[in-house]
Amino acid sequence: MERPAWAPRGIDISVPSVSRIYDFYLGGSHNFEVDREAARRAMEFMPGLPKIMQANRAFMRRAVRFAAAEGITQFLDIGSGIPTFGSVHEVARAVSPEARVMYVDHDPVAVAHSEVVLAGDERADVLAADLRKPREILDSPQVRGLIDQNRPVALLLVAILHFVEDMDDPYAAVAELRDSLAPGSLLVLSHASYEGIPLPPERAEGAVDVYKDIRNPLVMRSREAIARFFEGYDMVEPGLVPMPRWRPETAPEDEDAYSFSGFAGVGRKA
Ligand SMILES: C[S@@+](CC[C@H](N)C(=O)[O-])C[C@H]1O[C@@H](n2cnc3c(N)ncnc32)[C@H](O)[C@@H]1O
Repeated sequence: MERPAWAPRGIDISVPSVSRIYDFYLGGSHNFEVDREAARRAMEFMPGLPKIMQANRAFMRRAVRFAAAEGITQFLDIGSGIPTFGSVHEVARAVSPEARVMYVDHDPVAVAHSEVVLAGDERADVLAADLRKPREILDSPQVRGLIDQNRPVALLLVAILHFVEDMDDPYAAVAELRDSLAPGSLLVLSHASYEGIPLPPERAEGAVDVYKDIRNPLVMRSREAIARFFEGYDMVEPGLVPMPRWRPETAPEDEDAYSFSGFAGVGRKA
């Protein structure tokens, strides 16, 4: 089996990973044949999957520009993935050159590549940690060194929470993060849902099953269940909406039908 030189030691390249499958959908090159095979299998059920991922990245970039324009200079991106075109630090610094960005992911390939991309950057760093243990993230010396938790932060939970099952209590983890942030902080979130997918749910379920097979179940939540992640925060206009409808820069009607799958929104701590 191929083992590219960039693959970190110790990772099992025979098991597909969520971050490398996502990299493949976005046209990246940090994925293995097992990842591509799983991605293609999911696409047999939902051919528009890459369109959903592109709409998600586009939402993330608009939300980061919004946060930077609102005066936020600190970003905590949990589930940041493999760095690809238009990363948070690049987008934020185009608006706010001083922006500091802490990336967090539990996938070793995502962390290894972030380390390479961020080498020598004193205002951006990456931490290998798990969203399900928010205290370890908040109390880590790396996060404490980079992010002033007494000032507003933009917390990004973009396309990650649908990988956290209810038995792992994602609501408690997000509440702990929300509570720790200073007033004026923003929560930027997107999440998969059966709502909006231009296919009967039985067919979309085939793609969801692929993630179950690779032991990274995709938890599709309703709009109502996704809205609960923002508890106590005020929703920024236009609220929790399909991704292309969140402060669009081009006509949402021109977007592919698949990109309206799932929801995205930004909340603000009063
Ligand atoms: C679909 S990617 C999203 C990447 C990026 N946020 C974006 O939207 O472009 C999901 C990422 O979340 C990471 N992830 C999933 N569960 C996680 C957890 N419990 N803790 C930390 N990272 C996690 C995966 O490794 C993957 O890199």
